[in-house]
Amino acid sequence: MTTIQSKEIELIDRELEFKTFLNIEKNSPISVCEVTKQENVYILKYGKNTDSWVATHLPNEKRVLERAKECEGITHLVKDYNSFNGYAALLKEYAEGNLLSDSGKGLSTKLQSQLENTIRHLHKSGIVYLDIGSDNIIISNDRKKATIIDLGLACLKRDESSYFFEIDKAGDLLDLEELFKLYL
Ligand SMILES: Nc1ncnc2c1ncn2[C@@H]1O[C@H](COP(=O)(O)OP(=O)(O)O)[C@@H](O)[C@H]1O
Ligand SMILES: [Mg+2]
Repeated sequence: MTTIQSKEIELIDRELEFKTFLNIEKNSPISVCEVTKQENVYILKYGKNTDSWVATHLPNEKRVLERAKECEGITHLVKDYNSFNGYAALLKEYAEGNLLSDSGKGLSTKLQSQLENTIRHLHKSGIVYLDIGSDNIIISNDRKKATIIDLGLACLKRDESSYFFEIDKAGDLLDLEELFKLYL
């Protein structure tokens, strides 16, 4: 497994060094790995671009991250490899800490407000349907910072005044509220 990953990653960018495979449990055509490039740690999300899920999902996440450049509290796009050597791949910032699902109870309401601000900023940028869940949020080791790491399913809205956009925005905020009931 590791050898295949290393070889695939070398095809995408020879400067990338494979460290860990992060979505090993899931039977997904998209692989998520921790990698290093010139000693900096990043996340590489990639798959074969002949797969239709890869060919729609990764360009969507790229468009969302480009729109979200100014938003704090997310892991930003570092590089888009586009369709390179048969692979589509995105290099993203790495968030240090633990998944919310592994953080246990006792988190502060400040963290919840921080995430709410991030969600509202994303909404203002026309991004909605944020898949707010405990496997898509990293809590820093000092438990003072929360980062949304996966906007792969998010949608860009063209008509930001539409009724449905309002419903989707409320849905994201409700997801956050429900989630934090388990972790406060
Ligand atoms: N930027 C990141 N920083 C740290 N860990 C990450 C980051 N992105 C992803 N991960 C880890 O990889 C897992 C899968 O990544 P994710 O982008 O959520 O893909 P998917 O849900 O499509 O499998 C996450 O649950 C998390 O454990
Ligand atoms: Mg995810």
